[in-house]
Amino acid sequence: MTKLLLFLCVLSFVSTVHSKVWFPVFVAFEKNGQSVYDSWRTPSMCNELLAILKTTGRGKHLRNHVIDHWTEMNVNMVKVELYQKNAQVVWMTFNAKNSNNLNWFSKKNLYRSSFWDLSRWRTTNFFSAEGHFIENHVTRRFFINEKYDSCPGDSGWFCIEEKHDVCKWGQFSRYPVFMYTKQGRNWTTDASTADTLVISVSMDLK
Ligand SMILES: *[C@@H]1O[C@H](CO)[C@@H](O)[C@H](O)[C@H]1NC(C)=O
Repeated sequence: MTKLLLFLCVLSFVSTVHSKVWFPVFVAFEKNGQSVYDSWRTPSMCNELLAILKTTGRGKHLRNHVIDHWTEMNVNMVKVELYQKNAQVVWMTFNAKNSNNLNWFSKKNLYRSSFWDLSRWRTTNFFSAEGHFIENHVTRRFFINEKYDSCPGDSGWFCIEEKHDVCKWGQFSRYPVFMYTKQGRNWTTDASTADTLVISVSMDLK
């Protein structure tokens, strides 16, 4: 009996220590004309995330200064989520120990995700926040792509389209657009979009 109690105590202690608290530090909205990548890097482009208490609307992305103090804050894990009409459609978590505010988004740091077939062992031609950028050609940020094969043959998992794209699958009337693939990974036939991106962090609390 006492052994059982001890076991339960240890178990609850371990689960308390390991439970994570996620703080949203960045919220981005589709089609408001603002680059997500530049907003992530540039404080002045955003509304303060805490000011969400006042109604700030969707015209500017929301940002917390934790992003600028990444290394001092000992960010432990990062969670990226996409929402469509308040329902979560994609989530990914990343190990962020010893990372900076851009390089945490990498294949090596991927921990878990809602994509059943995405892992550190998959072949990808892009997996970075910078993504694939060629002026007046492609601006695919926070881009996780499997391969290129002249547009219709392109396949991947996750992409923030920020400007007019050379490929039909990346063309929309307004940007940014948060894209992901469902079931298959074909950008032409399997892609969906979401209206909101949320990036949260968890830190070691002392
Ligand atoms: C994706 O679908 C298009 C249109 O059906 C097709 O032409 C293309 O080969 C497919 N790409 C892949 C990677 O399967």
